[in-house]
Amino acid sequence: MTRLAGKSALITGSARGIGLGFAERFIAEGATVAIADINLEAAQAAAKSLGDSAYAVQMDVSDQASIDAAIAAVVDHCGKLDILVNNAALFDASETVDITRATYEKLYAVNVAGTLFTMQAAAKQMIAQGHGGKIINMASQAGRRGEPLVLVYCSTKAAVISMTQSAGLDLIRHGINVNAIAPGVVDGEHWDHVDATFARLEGKKPGQKKAEVAASVPAGRFAVPDDLTGMAVFLASSEADYILSQTYNVDGGQWMS
Ligand SMILES: NC(=O)c1ccc[n+]([C@@H]2O[C@H](COP(=O)([O-])OP(=O)(O)OC[C@H]3O[C@@H](n4cnc5c(N)ncnc54)[C@H](O)[C@@H]3O)[C@@H](O)[C@H]2O)c1
Repeated sequence: MTRLAGKSALITGSARGIGLGFAERFIAEGATVAIADINLEAAQAAAKSLGDSAYAVQMDVSDQASIDAAIAAVVDHCGKLDILVNNAALFDASETVDITRATYEKLYAVNVAGTLFTMQAAAKQMIAQGHGGKIINMASQAGRRGEPLVLVYCSTKAAVISMTQSAGLDLIRHGINVNAIAPGVVDGEHWDHVDATFARLEGKKPGQKKAEVAASVPAGRFAVPDDLTGMAVFLASSEADYILSQTYNVDGGQWMS
């Protein structure tokens, strides 16, 4: 299958987890993919495992100079940028009365400002190229409603959904489609961290939160990254040319909207 044949893609936070899963499928569909991550060593190892169509780029989405350098590295490597997946994000949880400014600022710097200014830099490059492009932002079911111990993360993902709506309406005049994916629960290191956080906050045993959450998913299990890749390839392809500003739930039936 070559639905992304000849395309140049940048996926932030793709050294592991969902982003790495997307990179593998994008390459199988014919794209060349920049594995962009704050952890260069992990990005290099991931790129190596994916073969010649992947290359590592060091990128901190909370730093404007790093965003600009990453876009420049993609253009240097491929001559263009066709697809951006804004995937890098941080998670934290705590009681509302214990939220610190430091945590708030860190999550907003990566999840909100990182998404916005990476989207902006990619859009500028796509506009200069004159052939449109595709931008996919990673939201979450957490952005659809609040959770008692997850105020900051939930609000960053609600912001991603809102930014996707506004940027999509603005950038379509340049032929750039902006959409988002809202996963539910996806197994991997992110959820290992979530499980450990809830074990600390709610006095649960390791693995207990995961088991409880898995039992509550209508599909009966956590997702694996490949459960999301079909939607990502679709939104990155020309099949999605008439779709903009949408956030698609890929969550085993957890949320309906
Ligand atoms: N895993 C889930 O259950 C789940 C559910 C809903 C939404 N999501 C969203 O999907 C996306 C990917 O999730 P995941 O589970 O693969 O996460 P993950 O924590 O496994 O991977 C995140 C990657 O981002 C990188 N990163 C962190 N800060 C960065 C920065 N400042 N600049 C660049 N890279 C940075 C990390 O090094 C890591 O490789 C995130 O946006 C997350 O919020 C995940």
